[in-house]
Amino acid sequence: MSYAPYPAMRMRRGRATSWMREMLQEHRLHPSDLIWPLFICDGSGDEQPIGSLPGVSRWSVDRLADKAREARDLGIPVIALFPNTPSDRRSVTAEEAVNVDNLICRAIRAIKDAVPDVGILTDVALDPYTAHGHDGLTDDAGYVLNDETVDVLVRQALVQAEAGADIVAPSDMMDGRVGAIRDVLEREGHRNVAIMAYAAKYASAFYGPFRDAVGSRGLLKGDKRGYQMNPANIEEALREVEMDLAEGADMVMVKPGLPYLDVVSRVKEAFGVPTFAYQVSGEYAMIEAAAAAGAGDRDALVLETLLGFKRAGASGVLTYHAPLAAKLIAG
Ligand code: PBG
Repeated sequence: MSYAPYPAMRMRRGRATSWMREMLQEHRLHPSDLIWPLFICDGSGDEQPIGSLPGVSRWSVDRLADKAREARDLGIPVIALFPNTPSDRRSVTAEEAVNVDNLICRAIRAIKDAVPDVGILTDVALDPYTAHGHDGLTDDAGYVLNDETVDVLVRQALVQAEAGADIVAPSDMMDGRVGAIRDVLEREGHRNVAIMAYAAKYASAFYGPFRDAVGSRGLLKGDKRGYQMNPANIEEALREVEMDLAEGADMVMVKPGLPYLDVVSRVKEAFGVPTFAYQVSGEYAMIEAAAAAGAGDRDALVLETLLGFKRAGASGVLTYHAPLAAKLIAG
């Protein structure tokens, strides 16, 4: 044993003063740990608040540059973009996903033009574009087809990279998509476009408000358990991560966040690679609801949960609270 027993050792000595607590603090949250997800809508001059995500809105392309500027000024290195595709552009073949003038590509170009020093992460998955709300193409029985979907994802990732995305983040959970995307990026000269793989993404009840935000909730037929992971599994998460790394993922992600901190911790320990966590929409909504009900102080809840990710070993966190957290950290 490396310490003397009580009373020679009193743990509370380390907590007695503010400067001592500060000195002994093991983990710290910094604005550079944060990735801010932003929703895009069609039109111009538009802000559309999202009912199930109080405080979060969809922004039209012309207003996004301001958000990007806000991120940069707060020291948030990366923003993540998610489109709410107009319903007449959704289809069973998800063609809009590979349209070089779709919402996401237009947003990327506008942001890169106005605020070139903010990183842009894009979601690679078909759910904002399909008529049935699934992340991939389906057969007649509604089964999500793997290899046919990967073919579209590869084209989608390429279109995003060509528009200027810095990190493409496949969130679809198809098998083999990371390797296929890496190949095309390499072949087409996008050597420095990174891949953040949603490696361990669970079929979760915490995605509801996000589906409202991208407009897929009402469309979704059935559930996503045929491709997203069973919340009961962790060994499987390690296999998923290992495969994505072998296929060329630069960094991996665990999603959702708080209920899966054990997964973050195991992944970080097992592989020692940049490991991100997504504090998803339902987690955000839960904190907001708790604060609104007087169950806890919003600012304190936000900082404590985000610090928990750091303690678990996360390199960073995608969170809708990113701007608030960055402001709180700055003091
Ligand atoms: C879809 C996608 C989802 C989220 C990110 N990308 C939803 C889903 O899988 O149904 C959820 C994010 C959140 O809830 O904040 N590919």
